[in-house]
Order: sequence, then C-alpha cells, then structure tokens
Amino acid sequence: MTTPIHWLLHTADPPTLEAWAWTNLAPAERAHLAALRFENRRDSFLLGRCAAKTLISRAIPALGALSPANIAIHNQPDGAPYVEIEGAGRLPGCLSLSHRDGRAACAWSADPALRHGIDLERIESRHPAFAGDYLTTAENAFAITLPESQRPLWITLAWSAREAALKALGTGLRLDTRRLAVSLPELAALEPAGVWQPLAIAVDAGAPAVLPGWWQRRGEFMLTLVTMGSTPDIALVEHMSPSG
Ligand SMILES: CC(C)(COP(=O)(O)OP(=O)(O)OC[C@H]1O[C@@H](n2cnc3c(N)ncnc32)[C@H](O)[C@@H]1OP(=O)(O)O)[C@@H](O)C(=O)NCCC(=O)NCCS
Repeated sequence: MTTPIHWLLHTADPPTLEAWAWTNLAPAERAHLAALRFENRRDSFLLGRCAAKTLISRAIPALGALSPANIAIHNQPDGAPYVEIEGAGRLPGCLSLSHRDGRAACAWSADPALRHGIDLERIESRHPAFAGDYLTTAENAFAITLPESQRPLWITLAWSAREAALKALGTGLRLDTRRLAVSLPELAALEPAGVWQPLAIAVDAGAPAVLPGWWQRRGEFMLTLVTMGSTPDIALVEHMSPSG
C-alpha cells in the first residue's frame, strides 16, 4: 500500500501574516508569538503556522471545515512540531516544518510507522570552509569533480538533506553533521527543477542506517525531504499554498 506524505510550499509577506494571525492562531500560539522579540523569528513562526494549518486542513478532509484557530501547531521540548486539534488533543502522525527567506515548507504524514523531515534552503555560494566543516571528505571530493557553476547546488543539497534527516531523526543539529553522508543515484542529473529526485542519506550514529529521501530545485531554493521508518512505498502529494 502507498503511504502519502502531503507537503506544501508557502510564501507570504509580513503584513499579510500579521493580519492573518489576528483570527487564525490558537490562544497558546498567540502567547508564543507574543514572547518572540525578533521580527524575523515572528515572521518565520507565522509563516510556518500558516503553511502547516493549511496543509492539515487540505490533507485531512475531515478537518477541512475547522477554523485554523482550532488546528494548533506546537513544539515538543526538543523542538519537533506537532498538531493539536481543539477538543480532540494531539493528532497522531508526523509534521515537519522549514522556513527560509519568506518561504515555508511543511510536510505531513498520518502513518504512525513513518517519521520525516523537510528542509528548505536558498541555493547560494557559501564560504569555502563551510563544506569542510559540515560535509564528509567524499562529498567534498565529489564537489571538486563538478563544474564550478554546479557546486553551490550540490553543497546546498548536501546540507539541506542533512537538516531534513536530522529532523526525521528528531535530533536536530545535536548530531555531528559529518556522521551523515548524502548520495545521489544520478550524479549527472543535478539540474532538473520542480521534480522530486531520489537521494539516500547514510547515518552513522548508534545503529547505522540509510534513509531514503528526495530533493528538488524550486527557482533559487532547494527543497529536501528525508524519511525514516518501515514504510516502503511513499507518494509525495503536493497541495496548493494559500497564496496559490
Ligand atoms: C532542527 C534544526 C536542524 C532546524 O534547522 P534550521 O535550518 O535552523 O531551521 P528550519 O527553518 O529548517 O526548521 C525549523 C523548524 O524545525 C523544526 N524542528 C526544530 N527542532 C526539531 C527537531 N528536534 N526535530 C524535528 N524538527 C525540529 C521546528 O518546527 C522549527 O520551526 P518552528 O520552530 O517554527 O516550529 C535546528 O534548528 C536544530 O538542530 N536545532 C537544535 C535543536 C534545538 O535547538 N531545538 C530547539 C529546542 S526549543
């Protein structure tokens, strides 16, 4: 049987988000927002909440008529997000979130055997020390074989897939990023945009594992999604963002 992972990419400007927040946040989310002092953190918090609430109401038809204020997005003590439905408690399943430069990506799966992580990064050149500090020797060696124009794409992909995997693992950056290694079956296919391409990420922590994942380029952005669990057959289902 195929397990869907629903996902959505959303963008909105800060004034639109502040107006949205008036009627669409749950009381606890409102309290969380009030405690955020930095404007860019407020914006990313709101963008993530708007994206995730929209995704839940579109991916789960039975919740489609609920007000977004009744679909609260909270964080566990380790930072991982989860969904709480007013009057019904925590929604079983896995939610993952990422925000970067005015865009948010989120993913949802109801399968209790599956965890996943989504990540969004801007494709850009990074300081030469970045790859040495965070990627493996093999990934750096691969970067050197690429034409210079493709290196930012590969380094962003290798970094983003790590962040997605660290969310799927639930550890975040507490785990040394060099204990993960990204590989692509089609090394030549670095360019196609707007289509999910497979990747694999080997994790050397406790019990070694290989996590399946996907990546795609969306304009200037890299989107990655990594899964962990016993579900073999996954369908990635995109939903329309509130911005269309
Ligand atoms: C998780 C982590 C890799 C995210 O990377 P990032 O590039 O900074 O940010 P992104 O926008 O891609 O992702 C942020 C989202 O990741 C999610 N997240 C945070 N910690 C997570 C974890 N341990 N597992 C899964 N998801 C997590 C949250 O939903 C967060 O958004 P939100 O705070 O608005 O709900 C990074 O923040 C990290 O490792 N943090 C360390 C753990 C930590 O400090 N947790 C906070 C304790 S309160």
